[in-house]
Amino acid sequence: MTEESGRPRVRVEFPAMTAGGKAAAATGKAAALGGEATLGGIVARATEAAALRPVDGVALVTIDRREALNAIDRATMEQLLEALERLDDDPTCRCMVITGVGDRAFAAGADILEMSEQTAASIAASGGFERWDRIARIATPLIAAVKGYALGGGCELAMTCDMIVAAADAVFGLPEVRLGVMPGAGGTQRLLRAMGKAKAMELILTGRNLPAVEAEAHGLVSLLVPRAEVVACALALAETIAAMPPLAVRAAVQAIDQAAELPLSEGLAAERKAFNALFETEDQKEGMRAFLEKRPADWKGR
Ligand code: CAA
Repeated sequence: MTEESGRPRVRVEFPAMTAGGKAAAATGKAAALGGEATLGGIVARATEAAALRPVDGVALVTIDRREALNAIDRATMEQLLEALERLDDDPTCRCMVITGVGDRAFAAGADILEMSEQTAASIAASGGFERWDRIARIATPLIAAVKGYALGGGCELAMTCDMIVAAADAVFGLPEVRLGVMPGAGGTQRLLRAMGKAKAMELILTGRNLPAVEAEAHGLVSLLVPRAEVVACALALAETIAAMPPLAVRAAVQAIDQAAELPLSEGLAAERKAFNALFETEDQKEGMRAFLEKRPADWKGR
């Protein structure tokens, strides 16, 4: 395997689109400012200045290990987590899109070369799964933009996101049994919750590839779009969400996530508590007043 040296494995950009919503993923915010911009403490430089508009409040995070079909090794996971947590702490970042570089893979799994020498003890001591838990705790909405393979840990990463936008020819799967192991980064739990026991059993016990069309039919995918439009569609979805009142969005994400963990009565109680708490926010007053005054709301995030 060709191994990259010290090159960063994860890129953060402030995406941009043409007026028609076509091109994506240039450093839009920086372009708009004519130079550099920072988001989550990460500096981005303008690479394309022409005819692009920034996608407000949205960061695009790209896994960049083309040589290994964006397989997630330890360094990639550390960089991904660092980028996501920094962006999560930045109130100007209201939605994130995660994708993989190129058209061949979102991510083809955890890095098999790196895993091949592990023991039960070394895996447990590595803290790898705590990193996955921290990704699941990111409060800013996360959208996976999936082109090509999302296998093993790549599929698990997409399922850890709040939504998946997939290319019509993308391929999902949890092939870990074929390697003598099983899904370890949430696959058995999240696939079951997304698709039900019958499909989860069939897919995990055979390790077969799941075409995106089938994944969408079984509820894993939010939007299925042509491959060339995956990132642009995910960014457009992210932009719509970023324009919503952020406290309400985060509270809704948390309530939906809790639904997978809590009995119905507790989930309903948590939902009610969060709903009531939003009536203490300026955005609730503004949102309802704006509706009654027939004007767009001006969200403050308070
Ligand atoms: N880890 C490390 N390297 C990987 C990789 C992975 N998961 N997936 C692909 N690569 C590397 C290949 O070794 C190859 O490298 P070289 O060019 O240096 O040989 C390169 O990426 C291109 O891959 P292929 O030549 O295999 O490409 P292909 O088009 O023939 O096949 C594929 C594509 C079907 C995705 C195939 O690469 C494949 O099956 N990959 C492994 C998928 C997998 O089993 N994922 C689960 C990993 S375990 C896991 O994720 C555990 C967990 O729950 C956290």
